[in-house]
Amino acid sequence: MNDILRVENMTMCFGGLVAVNDVSFQMEKRTIHSLIGPNGAGKTTIISMMNGTLPVPGGKVFFDGEDVTNKPTYVIAKKGMGRTFQNIKLFDSMTVEENLLMGATYLYEYDSFLKFLITPKRQRRLDRQAREIAGEIMNDFNIYHMKNERVGKLAYGHKKIVELARTVISRPKLILLDEPAAGLNPTERQEFIGIIRNVFESGIDFFIIEHNMDVIMNLSDRITVINFGEKIAEGTPEEIRNNDLVIEAYLGDRFKKERGQASC
Ligand SMILES: Nc1ncnc2c1ncn2[C@@H]1O[C@H](COP(=O)(O)OP(=O)(O)O)[C@@H](O)[C@H]1O
Ligand SMILES: [Mg+2]
Repeated sequence: MNDILRVENMTMCFGGLVAVNDVSFQMEKRTIHSLIGPNGAGKTTIISMMNGTLPVPGGKVFFDGEDVTNKPTYVIAKKGMGRTFQNIKLFDSMTVEENLLMGATYLYEYDSFLKFLITPKRQRRLDRQAREIAGEIMNDFNIYHMKNERVGKLAYGHKKIVELARTVISRPKLILLDEPAAGLNPTERQEFIGIIRNVFESGIDFFIIEHNMDVIMNLSDRITVINFGEKIAEGTPEEIRNNDLVIEAYLGDRFKKERGQASC
């Protein structure tokens, strides 16, 4: 099996409206796969169902060959699915380095018997190791110089980079990004694309929700498009760029009037 992710017939209903309607797609290992669609199309709902932030009332989610439907978020994260949020979630009163270290807790996990053997000396060694790994990642992400700054004081673009760094340090197989480029200026956007590319080269796959077409067309191997909760297209960036349904979903009012959102 070569899928890292497979979603089958995913459905979600919010207060009588079908937010996600029978959506299926799969994502191959070692690819960057994007999910696009107009505001309110159901994108965030889909990734929240994939990683256990929301329940999955209808359908199935498979991650790296395993059924993870309705598993708790921490279980899915432990299997290697990391995520960043549309509204950044960091610890503002902690430093950049401390935020990263929150993602490195796996270093301290041993089986229950060995836990008794964590001596102060060993603890110091583990702390040092975690700081070394955090240091390498901060270097790679060009944020080392701000490692002692409180995250709450950072510029928005830097917070986004710190959030991705904290996800990367947890060594996931796949990272879900919800609108990583939103709010970034063109220079920051280019920097972010570069970081994503480097992380991908290091062996982590990406599933990206994004509005900025530059980012999407630049990074994606494959794109799934949804509108009003339904999948309307899928293909390579070239195929999607020239797909009439997609162009209409983004540009045409006519499309909205004809289809509308299904009720449930
Ligand atoms: N927790 C919720 N409760 C009720 N409705 C919601 C909730 N989350 C999202 N929705 C609705 O579901 C639809 C899809 O939302 P969302 O997945 O956030 O879209 P997108 O990320 O594509 O902009 C929207 O109509 C939104 O208002
Ligand atoms: Mg969203």
